[in-house]
Amino acid sequence: TTTAFAFIAAAYLIGSLSFAVIVSKAMGMADPRSYGSGNPGATNVLRSGKKIAAALTLLGDGAKGWVAVALAAWLAPRYGLGTREVAMVAIAVLAGHMWPVFFGFKGGKGVATAVGVLFGFSLWLALAAVATWLFMAFVVRISSLSALTACVLAPVYAYFILGPQSPYFGTCIIIAILVIHRHKSNLVNLLTGQEGRIGEKAASKD
Ligand code: G3P
Repeated sequence: TTTAFAFIAAAYLIGSLSFAVIVSKAMGMADPRSYGSGNPGATNVLRSGKKIAAALTLLGDGAKGWVAVALAAWLAPRYGLGTREVAMVAIAVLAGHMWPVFFGFKGGKGVATAVGVLFGFSLWLALAAVATWLFMAFVVRISSLSALTACVLAPVYAYFILGPQSPYFGTCIIIAILVIHRHKSNLVNLLTGQEGRIGEKAASKD
C-alpha cells in the first residue's frame, strides 16, 4: 500500500542520516571516511581520539534505528499496518544507514543502528545483544569481532525471546546477514590478524 511505502521511505531517509559524518562536521573534525577503516561509524570516530564524538555517533545512529521502529510500531495500528510492515521499516532504516542517499550511498556497517532496531523490537532482545557485544569487547577488545558475535547470536536470542513465529525473528536473520556482509574487510583483517583493537588511534587514509 501507499502508506506502507511512505513508512518505508521515511525510515530509509532517517537511516540515511550518518551521525559519524554529521557529528564530525559539527565538531570541526575530519570526515571519518578519510581515516582509519574509513567507515562512518562510532568505532572509527573513536580512532580520531575524540571520545565524545564517538559516543554521540553511537547514540545518534542507535537512536535513529529505535525511533524508526518504535514510531512505526506505534503508528501502525492507526494506519492499518501490521508487524510485517514494521519489520520492513526496520530493514529500511538499516539500509538507509548502510547506503545513505545523502552521502553518496557510502554508509556504515550498521551495528549501532541494528541495536537501536532491536530495542524497538524487544527490550530483552536488545539487552541480550548489547551484553554479548560488551562481553566480547571486554574479552577481545575488537569492535568488529564483538559485533559479528552479537550478529550471529541475535537471531538465536530472537528465537527464544520472541519465538519463531514472530516476523521480527526472520528480520533479525536478515539484519545479521546485512551487518555481516558489511564486515567483509573486517573478516579479512581478523583472519589475517590485522584487525585493530578498540580505541587504537589511526593514521589518515590519504
Ligand atoms: O561498528 C562497526 C565495527 O563493527 C567495525 O568498524 O571501523 O573497525 O571497521 P571498523
